Amino acid sequence: MRTTERERGQSDGARLPGGVPPPRPLTSPAVTTPVVRIGLLGCGTVGAALAALVGEQRDTIAARAGVDLRITRVAVRDLGRVRDVDLDPSVFTTDAAAVVTDPDVDVVVEVMGGVDPARDLVLAALAAGKPVVTANKELLATAGAEVFSAADAAQVDLLFEAAVAGGIPLVRPLRESLRGEPITRVMGIVNGTTNYILTRMAEAGAAYADALAEAQALGYAEADPTADVEGHDAGSKCAILASIAFGAQVTAADVHREGISRITAADIAYAARKGYVVKLLAVAELLPAADGGHDISARVHPAFVPATHPLAAVRESFNAVFVEGEAVGDLMFYGRGAGGGPTASAVLGDLIDAAVNRQHHTHGSIGELRPARLRPLDQLSSPFYICLEVADRPGVLAAVAGVFGRHGVSISSVEQTGRAERADLVFITHSAVEANVRATLAELGDLDVVRDIGSVLRVLDDL
Ligand code: NAP
Ligand code: HSE
Repeated sequence: MRTTERERGQSDGARLPGGVPPPRPLTSPAVTTPVVRIGLLGCGTVGAALAALVGEQRDTIAARAGVDLRITRVAVRDLGRVRDVDLDPSVFTTDAAAVVTDPDVDVVVEVMGGVDPARDLVLAALAAGKPVVTANKELLATAGAEVFSAADAAQVDLLFEAAVAGGIPLVRPLRESLRGEPITRVMGIVNGTTNYILTRMAEAGAAYADALAEAQALGYAEADPTADVEGHDAGSKCAILASIAFGAQVTAADVHREGISRITAADIAYAARKGYVVKLLAVAELLPAADGGHDISARVHPAFVPATHPLAAVRESFNAVFVEGEAVGDLMFYGRGAGGGPTASAVLGDLIDAAVNRQHHTHGSIGELRPARLRPLDQLSSPFYICLEVADRPGVLAAVAGVFGRHGVSISSVEQTGRAERADLVFITHSAVEANVRATLAELGDLDVVRDIGSVLRVLDDL
């Protein structure tokens, strides 16, 4: 902590002839600018970046939005940790509950992460009539229905732009600009850490563990990076996107999830040779059902993305999300999906809105979320990339191909590379039903000649 947060001098602004007040200067808040006091839960990568941004932008925000934002309390886990933030040491505490109930806190910003104790703290803030801004996708994808209805009951804002795709304005366009749009699909890259790892592996031949360590050092990864590499983080974001896009209650548990931790350098090299790039995709789709209604499919998995697809060009920690609607057509949102600065930017936008709404005694609402009817993954179709290690002797390829044929999985291409008495077979299938691919893999696993089933990845084919 460097210095005390400065207090602003307040002039009474002499009146011009005729009693007209002087124009409000752009760089310092007018005397009447109401102060909005912020309780910050967490001061790590995002919280510290937010504190810096609030300090830098306070005058501009006061001039443009008419609110003077001040961080008055900050909860952290470890008071002894050295923090590069321009806040008075006296504002820090380890008692997060006391921050929420402090009468000197008007708006609560939750950037501590995790479901517990964040859930109770957010509920307590809302129950106390305090608007909440959060970047916590895990909380919203687990207990979203509960916290959204608590915000509605308290008639205050619960804003969460930073919870999906970091600094990219995506939640607000979905909630506001696209409110009347019949959205059919939201698909994209929503995890910066995994995109960074895959980019470094593909472009620099980096080892998986080294690329992950770099992503952690750059502040992209979650406190436990398993959340990133096993797809939990993207799964939470997928659930939130599906909920807002389709007005349905979709939780993280509803999202099929596969991560990138078993992607090999050989998968990435094969993809490149065939004109693909491996990306971790989140897909939320509205699918017509036989009864005239709609099912929702929500899934996160790595996929071969054609090098010509715009998502293939999304590198490092950048995120990109396609929103497809019946009236609007295709929209693409692109920007930095992780890191302190971009995420703090999204939090600050929400914070200003919450502060201004509070001044005007108004608030937004996500609206009623209906129960979601989910389409089982087994019923979906796509082409697949499948790697097998087999015995290298006559008749093996025919036996393996027979299994694909028996389950109605049509082979588009196969390549064999030999090793001593073993061969690697790499198949790309035509579009096949997931259930049939699973049955194929199960029967292949029982064949004596199949030594190992390696990577199995979907191929994005609907351009
Ligand atoms: P972080 O660097 O790990 O910071 C977490 C902060 O919360 C730390 O200051 C920690 O205190 C504090 N904290 C944790 N548990 C606490 C408790 N029980 N009581 C009091 N304080 C507690 O995490 P982050 O990267 O800033 O992420 C924060 C949130 O933003 C998460 O929900 C994350 O998913 C989300 N988010 C992060 C990014 C990103 O790029 N990093 C992007 C979008 C959204 P100490 O400092 O004392 O340990
Ligand atoms: N760990 C997350 C990511 C942070 O890498 O995308 C942004 O939500």
